[in-house]
Amino acid sequence: MQYLPIFTKLDNKPVLVVGGGEVALRKIRALLKARAVVTVLAPEFCDELIQLSEQGELSLKQAYFSAEAVDGMALVIAATDNDDVNAQVSDAADARNIFVNVVDDQPKCSFIFPSIVDRNPITIAISSAGTAPVLARRLREKLETLIPQHIGPLAQLVGGFRDKVKGRFKHFADRRQFWERVFDSHVVSKVQSGDTAGAQQQLHDMLNDTAEPQGEVYVVGAGPGDPELLTLKALQLMQQADVVVYDYLVSDEIMELVRRDADLICVGKRAGHHSVKQEDTNQMLVELAQQGKKVCRIKGGDPFIYGRGGEEVQVLAAANIRYQIVPGITAAAGCSAYAGIPLTHRDHAQAIQFVTGHCKKEGQELDWQSLAKPNQTLAIYMGVIKSPHIQAQLLAHGRSEHTPVAIVENGTRKSQRVVTTELGQLATQIEANNIQSPALLIIGEVAALHQELAWFGQTEQIASYAQPLAKIA
Ligand SMILES: C[S@@+](CC[C@H](N)C(=O)[O-])C[C@H]1O[C@@H](n2cnc3c(N)ncnc32)[C@H](O)[C@@H]1O
Repeated sequence: MQYLPIFTKLDNKPVLVVGGGEVALRKIRALLKARAVVTVLAPEFCDELIQLSEQGELSLKQAYFSAEAVDGMALVIAATDNDDVNAQVSDAADARNIFVNVVDDQPKCSFIFPSIVDRNPITIAISSAGTAPVLARRLREKLETLIPQHIGPLAQLVGGFRDKVKGRFKHFADRRQFWERVFDSHVVSKVQSGDTAGAQQQLHDMLNDTAEPQGEVYVVGAGPGDPELLTLKALQLMQQADVVVYDYLVSDEIMELVRRDADLICVGKRAGHHSVKQEDTNQMLVELAQQGKKVCRIKGGDPFIYGRGGEEVQVLAAANIRYQIVPGITAAAGCSAYAGIPLTHRDHAQAIQFVTGHCKKEGQELDWQSLAKPNQTLAIYMGVIKSPHIQAQLLAHGRSEHTPVAIVENGTRKSQRVVTTELGQLATQIEANNIQSPALLIIGEVAALHQELAWFGQTEQIASYAQPLAKIA
């Protein structure tokens, strides 16, 4: 991080602006909003500055710059059109350890003005560290449309209750949970509709409600890895949780988005490497919720597709714990889209079957007769280790050895790799390409469409073919 974002209180603090033109005026307007005591130093001033001075908003000092002018200032801004003067201002401030901004000359700045979204008292500052101001401005425009106007009045309302809430809840965690409940309640919609008195009354009632806060578990699907595939709801709940219980399958980029001060508990789960037993994870979720915590149980893909979400929710329901289930994009949908493979296609596949290569109980066999039928797609999860068996069974039950296959490793992530081959070569190609988990097998005529439809921006490594694929009809 090149600049530490801080919000400074300039109320009644002396600030020197060197320069008397339009550029200086823009900065001065921001400084006056923050109630700084502004002195403008320049040999001459534009009309607006003279007007502001006549209104008593600032002082004008008609002079050429000399280093002593910065003495005693909290901040200094150089906004002249003369590079030498700007450099002198910067040097003088630096020599006295005073923060200085030189307009449009980032190397000479010890602080920079960010782009601002102003919903007083909520202020959002955006900076590109001077590298891409237009990008920062566009981001600001996006945020302007996303952040509702009522957020300012809401912050003002809750600000008035802060001391009372501090008095009622001694521990920081309890206060935080209280505020989370407030922001999930009708207090927000009341402020939004202008019913400030109603919002105030409800906040008051919530504060006097002595019932213990209830815990809750959010069973959240995080999708296959690309953080942009998270749903808005998943993101909201990840931000609300006190505790996040996660698997290895959840990508690092997604874990970056959970609340900074949430407790993180990894319960492992890789085929053959279960660091925490499923029963212990179930019990952990129940106990955390019983302690009144908001628990985000985050899982790769969709929680109800080979994610043991069903087992966990059964245990929560039996223990009378409140829960929410948030679907995620399952690996089959994510991997196929990012590899340019439609799972169904009117010409090639009328059905799709989701299959696991890793059954719970030994001896539990799949219905190979049904899986080997042509003109359907198999999306096989956890199939890498068992690929020789899968290949042998499908061939033995009549699937052609030339059936196209795609192996998608790390689907939707930056490291996505797609290997395409034919069913007769599946296990050999998995070994030859050293395919690692997580990887999904897509078996069926549609896999050949990867060649035609893959957008290589989404696929880091180009597909490799065991042998040229027969062109599909
Ligand atoms: C325990 S299952 C979990 C599936 C998950 N609940 C879902 O809906 O995608 C793990 C398997 O999903 C597949 N998988 C999950 N994420 C993947 C990814 N990003 N790329 C390829 N395969 C993935 C792999 O087959 C992996 O072995």
